[in-house]
Amino acid sequence: MALRQIKCVSSSLLVIVAVLTTCDNYLQVGTMPDSLSPPRVTPSYLCARKARGQKIAALTAYDCPTARLLEGAGIDIALVGDSVGTNVLGYRSEQEVTVEDIVHHTRAVRRGVERALVLADLPFLSYHSPEAALLNAGRLIQEGGADGVKLEGGAPVLPQVEAMTRAGIPVAGHLGFTPQSHGRDLYAFSEKRGTVARVQGRSAAEAEWLLEEARRLQEAGVFALVLEMVAEEAAQLVSQSLEIPTIGIGAGRHCDGQVLIVHDLLGFSGVELRLARAYTRFGEEAARALAAYRHDVEQGAFPAEENVFHMEPGELAQLRQLLAPKS
Ligand code: KIV
Repeated sequence: MALRQIKCVSSSLLVIVAVLTTCDNYLQVGTMPDSLSPPRVTPSYLCARKARGQKIAALTAYDCPTARLLEGAGIDIALVGDSVGTNVLGYRSEQEVTVEDIVHHTRAVRRGVERALVLADLPFLSYHSPEAALLNAGRLIQEGGADGVKLEGGAPVLPQVEAMTRAGIPVAGHLGFTPQSHGRDLYAFSEKRGTVARVQGRSAAEAEWLLEEARRLQEAGVFALVLEMVAEEAAQLVSQSLEIPTIGIGAGRHCDGQVLIVHDLLGFSGVELRLARAYTRFGEEAARALAAYRHDVEQGAFPAEENVFHMEPGELAQLRQLLAPKS
């Protein structure tokens, strides 16, 4: 496999994107003033943001109203993650999520955004071979309207990444803690690494392994790399060594961007994770609102005059006449 590289070169006024490279499919020779964001976020724009030292803000989204909120806030990537399973669908783990689930939720998110790049997760067992990856990524793009797909893992998925990028599908990688495998599959258990702890890259050997996997994914053509639950120092090393942007979740301050599960940010998931920050307590507010509604219904305080619709004036009297017993 030929080694391909990307170059995202910035100057103070112009960003000159040279196409040599991994981002061949995404980058176009041209100029883009620093202050201008394109009408739609593209993989090449994300590369350019990294080159300019501008951080990338990503969030999960699973439905249209939330996607609209993300769009309004100028979020760059709307990730339809397989976290939809545990956060929205009531599944016990990511392994229950199907391609149909992701297509369905991606369609909803697509309707809510114009600018943000819609990235859809390839769920568990949907990319066990390059053929399966191509087929299912095609569904997420063509039926769901995704702009790109994300898959978990390193060396074992390189053929899948190559098959998809060859077919023109933008692909993002995901290393570190990988929820689909929960540390149980080949990717997470190797002779070199032994049993994997939840936070990855804490030892020199693990960090070196992570860097190697990240480099190979970049060579295979991924346009971005999610790093989940990785020691900050290891994530920094990976970020500095790659030309594609890294998007961290629990991976410290030096990644090129950050992603959070939107429910954690809104305080709607009921759990407080060290890797996240709840910017509001939406869950508590929602619980208060629901209890107030129930109280009002039970007390007859809802609906009130302003919530009801009336018959045309005079019509009620006419109706009563119509219904009056004829003598
Ligand atoms: O599914 C998801 O939400 C993700 C994030 C944790 C990055 O993959």
